[in-house]
Amino acid sequence: MTRPVTDIDIAACLEMLKPAAIEASRNAYSPFSKLNVGCAVLGRDGAVYSGCNVESASYGLTQCAERNALAHAVSQGETRGAFTAILVYTPVAAQLTPCGACRQVMSELMADRALVICCSEGEQVSHWTVDELLPEPFDF
Ligand code: THU
Repeated sequence: MTRPVTDIDIAACLEMLKPAAIEASRNAYSPFSKLNVGCAVLGRDGAVYSGCNVESASYGLTQCAERNALAHAVSQGETRGAFTAILVYTPVAAQLTPCGACRQVMSELMADRALVICCSEGEQVSHWTVDELLPEPFDF
């Protein structure tokens, strides 16, 4: 793994972000997939913002937890490059990874070497940097 943008470590991120992501996953609106996803992002000065997935009967309008958490943070005044870590939680056994659309938005709003952490039920924790998950992103 390339070195993260800060010296922040995985254990510290889990402690700061996992409770908020679990809490958000409980609010997921997922009547179609039945997959609840919760996400929490770390902004400036240790601020934590969360989001969950919100589905739509018009399936393509579904909003992922990651993009909702980042939009929540931006709506509260956080700016591009402010985010050093994002944690995604799913209350299932399988280890999931962020979809391509979320990777694009992460690459635009987060620092290149910000941490992306995924965890589910159980002990396993997966992590990458944003640029590992989306090398050569579209940037305008
Ligand atoms: N989902 C997320 O919230 N994040 C992702 O990165 C991938 C998928 C949600 C969308 C949908 O509500 C459900 O998971 C199944 O795809």
